[in-house]
Order: sequence, then structure tokens, then C-alpha cells
Amino acid sequence: MNDPTALLEATQAFVQAKHGSDSSGHDWWHVDRVRRMALRLAAAEGADPMTVELAALLHDIADWKFHDGNAEIGPEAARQWLVSQQADAALIQAVCEIVAGVTFKGAGVATEMPTLEGKCVQDADRLDAIGAIGIGRAFAFGGAFGRAMYDPEISAQHHEDFTAYQKKSGPTLNHFPEKLFLLKDRLQTATAHRIAEGRHRFLEEFYERFLAEWRGDDMAEFLEC
Ligand code: ADP
Ligand code: NI
Repeated sequence: MNDPTALLEATQAFVQAKHGSDSSGHDWWHVDRVRRMALRLAAAEGADPMTVELAALLHDIADWKFHDGNAEIGPEAARQWLVSQQADAALIQAVCEIVAGVTFKGAGVATEMPTLEGKCVQDADRLDAIGAIGIGRAFAFGGAFGRAMYDPEISAQHHEDFTAYQKKSGPTLNHFPEKLFLLKDRLQTATAHRIAEGRHRFLEEFYERFLAEWRGDDMAEFLEC
């Protein structure tokens, strides 16, 4: 299929059907937000919008978190779909490389994207993991995967490699230092850096307030003990 509008529409319908029933923060609206943010970044940075939009639509089509840690399935599913639509070979290659590289792999693992289009998609995905929506998604993920919200006896970890990161099963609040606080400084476009400032600050405020309420700091002025 060489008509770009028809390919985007067909891809959207395909992706919407796949993400339909998700309750872990990987629902269709996550994909739609990433697509819209990635296109804004692409316009600001001068990236190719077709590659960016297709890759954003397909970026979580078969995420390793839902496939026993297998990170090969996502790019393969994207490739099969695009081949079935007779997309241009160079476009398929560019999109599948982005789908393969987009995911976070642990604090100690570099995941820089080689192309400008990849940077826009990865930055958009990461902007959706921070701020108010990012917090909502983290707790939705934790609930869907049976994680505790917080446990003061389990400390956050520094994951040196992807395997260690994939095995983690700690409480959701640990995910903030383990991943979410790190994202701001790993964004690769200047536009995303600017957008991340406010979202990152909100993440920090939420985290501090969560722990303050847990300790009971906010009761001190009303109670004697
Ligand atoms: P990535 O592929 O980089 O992980 P996703 O679009 O799949 O990006 O987003 C991951 C989402 O799932 C984030 O919002 C993140 O907060 C959430 N998530 C992943 N792992 C955990 C976890 N162990 N605890 C809480 N949330 C998690
Ligand atoms: Ni995503």
C-alpha cells in the first residue's frame, strides 16, 4: 500500500484492536498520546512525520512486558503488519528499528536512538511515563501486575542490565527512582527536554508527598502524638 493516509488509517485500526482491553497503562490512548506527542516533536525537530507516526502507532504492539520478556516479538509483529500492507521496504526497516529500540532497559543500560525519528518516538513514549499521566500509568501497571504500592522494607535497585530490569517485581513506588526519575536526563530532543521539566517536578512532588503522608508528617499540626 503506497497511499500514506490509507496505511496510517489501517495501522490505527489494527493497533486499536490490539490495545483495546488493556488496564496496565498500555491502552490505545497511551498509543494515541505518544503518536500525537511524537508528531509535535517531529514538527519541531524536522523529523519525517510518516516514519514517526507509524513507529509511534506500532511501538507497543507486542511489548516484552506482556510476552515473557521477549523483546523480539514487537518489531517482528510490526514488520509482519507492514509487509502485509505492502509498505515500502525502507519505511518498514526504519519503523521496525524504532520499535526494537524504544523500550527502557534499566538504569545502567544506554538506549539512545540512532535516528531523529527514533528520538522523537522514544522521547514521546518517555514523556508519557512522567507527570500526572505517568504516575497514573505506573500505579495502573502495578495493579495489573500484582505489585505492592509501597513497602518501606524493600529498597529501590539499580539495574545494570536488561535481564535484571526484566526480573524486577518490587513495589510501584520503587519504580520512580528505578526508572521514572531518570527519564528527564535521557531524553534526546531539546523540545522534549523542555516539556519534561514540569512533568519531572510533579513526579518529585508526588513522591515526596506520598512518603510524607506515609510517615504522617502532614498530621503534626493537628495531633499531639
Ligand atoms: P517502556 O517500553 O520504555 O517501558 P512503555 O510505554 O511500555 O515504555 O511504558 C511503561 C509504563 O509501564 C510506564 O508508564 C511505567 O511507569 C510502567 N511500568 C513499567 N514497569 C513498571 C513497574 N515495575 N512498576 C510500575 N510501573 C511500571
Ligand atoms: Ni509505550
